[in-house]
Amino acid sequence: MERIIVSGGVPINGKISIAGAKNAALPLLATSLLTDAPVILRNVPDLNDITQMLNLLDHHGANVDFDKSQKTCTLQVSSITDHVAPYDIVRKMRASILVLGPILARDGEVKVSFPGGCAIGTRPVNMHIDGLRALGAEISVANGHIHAVAPKKGLIGADFAMPMVSVTATENLLMAATLAQGRTVIRNAAKEPEVCDLARCLVKMGAKIYGIGSDTLVVHGVERLHGVDHTIIPDRIEAATYAVGAAITHGKVLLENVIFDDLSVFWESLEKAGARIVKIPRQTKSVDSEFEIANVQVEMTQDIRGTDVITGPFPGFPTDLQAQFMALMTICSGAALITETIFENRFMHVLELCRMGADITVHGGSALVRGVKWLTGTQVMATDIRASVSLVLAGAATSGTTEIRRIYHIDRGYEHIEKKLQACGVNIERAAA
Ligand code: UD1
Repeated sequence: MERIIVSGGVPINGKISIAGAKNAALPLLATSLLTDAPVILRNVPDLNDITQMLNLLDHHGANVDFDKSQKTCTLQVSSITDHVAPYDIVRKMRASILVLGPILARDGEVKVSFPGGCAIGTRPVNMHIDGLRALGAEISVANGHIHAVAPKKGLIGADFAMPMVSVTATENLLMAATLAQGRTVIRNAAKEPEVCDLARCLVKMGAKIYGIGSDTLVVHGVERLHGVDHTIIPDRIEAATYAVGAAITHGKVLLENVIFDDLSVFWESLEKAGARIVKIPRQTKSVDSEFEIANVQVEMTQDIRGTDVITGPFPGFPTDLQAQFMALMTICSGAALITETIFENRFMHVLELCRMGADITVHGGSALVRGVKWLTGTQVMATDIRASVSLVLAGAATSGTTEIRRIYHIDRGYEHIEKKLQACGVNIERAAA
């Protein structure tokens, strides 16, 4: 198994071009199941999770052409040739559940292997199931599969209130509702930028969706959707991860292609921690006139200050940045209380950071991080995408060598991470086991 080896102590200095958003790309790829016309997606990141989703879509009958050099993926699902999402693919990526709503809406029947547990919590799928039941689907869970069957005349619009905010459950329901008869209201919908990107793309495909960006989405079902050419928004989590990288190593990075406003609470927290953040408007037109794509310069020239954060649904502090921010806080002056409210078990990185010399105590959903003077390099293990990258950042901040194992997690979510960091002066390399 491959490892990443980081010899730290060098500030991260340079430019990093931010890739397309993984969490937007995954549901956007699944939209191809809603139409027999071609779906062209641009700014598609080159990641293992994308490969997994393309494998799954291929299994369901998609004709897939991913031109990595152009970051463009063209998909066409003339007909769905297999209505079962098998365990072998689903177990590798929970987001496979995103095929449930589209296949059900288009063909009236689908079986998706029940996604297993996950390192960051139990992550149930009850809201995906309840939401589709509200649209009239008969759903049974047996033999490790979710089996959904729509009424003979197709799904029927309904009013559904999500008991809690869920990104992929909102996306599943939204995609299904576009082809349901009549009006669907999704209340307490996720407002994450990735959900909005999906909704905007569906509208371009002919869907009637109102309230995009709010917590109430209203969908008027249409008979069919057509093809689309859509450019995926930049990955806010990747951008923020490298911003933390600059801060933790007392460096300076220019992040290219960022929707600044999608990270407001994060920028505020990073500023409180002592970083200088400057948004630099770009001359070129944004991919979509609704938002502005800018460059952002992040620099840290002072001691890192202890800064508390609490994760929350958008526009709150993203849970997907909690591990990286915790890595930053390990070497702060003072202490920081980091509270996780989205996933009950998302502190897998704590023990690994402690192996590097961090002083962290977990009490329920909060972690008290007492800043230490320095971290030391050692062998650590990656446990999920964001936990893994927090170890890379911590490694870059030590004066020793850190060896990170189980790095397949990193390749699920960070495109060409070594190349991007090497270009900024970091001594990082991939080694075979
Ligand atoms: C998505 C993101 C992930 C991010 C998370 C929260 C994708 C592919 N992944 O994951 O990176 O960390 O949002 O921002 O977009 N829940 C239920 N029942 C359900 C569904 C969810 O109880 O049916 C709970 C979860 O256990 C969790 C909370 O809702 O406590 C939020 O999870 P959710 O937003 O669904 O996460 P994902 O969509 O899986």
